[in-house]
Amino acid sequence: MAEQGRKPLISGNWKMHLNHFEAIQLVQTLSYEVDKDDYEAVDVSVHPPFTDIRSIQTILDADRLPILLGAQHCHFESKGAFTGEVAPEMLAKLNVKLVIVGHSERREIFGETDEMVNAKVKAILKQDMTPILCCGETLDEREAGQAESKVETQILAGLHGVGKEAIAGLVIAYEPIWAIGTGVTATPEDAQTMCAHVRSVVRAKAGDEAADAVRIQYGGSVKPGNAAELMGQADIDGALVGGASLEAPGFARIVKYRLS
Ligand code: 13P
Repeated sequence: MAEQGRKPLISGNWKMHLNHFEAIQLVQTLSYEVDKDDYEAVDVSVHPPFTDIRSIQTILDADRLPILLGAQHCHFESKGAFTGEVAPEMLAKLNVKLVIVGHSERREIFGETDEMVNAKVKAILKQDMTPILCCGETLDEREAGQAESKVETQILAGLHGVGKEAIAGLVIAYEPIWAIGTGVTATPEDAQTMCAHVRSVVRAKAGDEAADAVRIQYGGSVKPGNAAELMGQADIDGALVGGASLEAPGFARIVKYRLS
């Protein structure tokens, strides 16, 4: 169970799924299933594709839903000739609170480097939004005994030049690449070991206060059936959910993991 003071954060990363009509329907259905007690116990965020963000913002405002609006990605510059990109300022104007940075799909498919991830973390913080900094190892790296060092390198590079206070407020998502979209979940013990490692990396870099405050999510085939056990681990403060967040009843059950 997350230490007192670290409010769990359950985030739905929709990836490249759902047009804005489908997105509105999903959020409305979700809002019928999640109640005041849930929001008191757990922070909930949704991370739609860019084209849906304005529509979801409108629904959250109109219905006064305490779901936090998130994005999946942004550029690190404020403006310029970057065809197809979106600036952090543009997201902040839409009331986006959390931005996923350095997801393994962005790193692997779109060539995002640790340096780009670091620049994005700083740009997001500058807009008073919270980065969800992703890290995680491939199966080959895990089998070669390199999981810990890979994650440490990604975190230290991602947080280079970021102050202790800012680090305390951010979210780090440990997502083993071999568990993403595969149906294979890390065992709760393995997930705990790696999330504890993430916290120890933060402790060594930024001290006790930041390490005790930073929220660490586990991601990789989180489902209604395994959420409670994962969330029961000492260093797991939340979940970054892909596939299972695309369907309201299942995502609601993950949000309500404490009742199962
Ligand atoms: P799945 O839950 O579909 O494995 O995706 C995890 C993920 O990548 C969330 O960012």
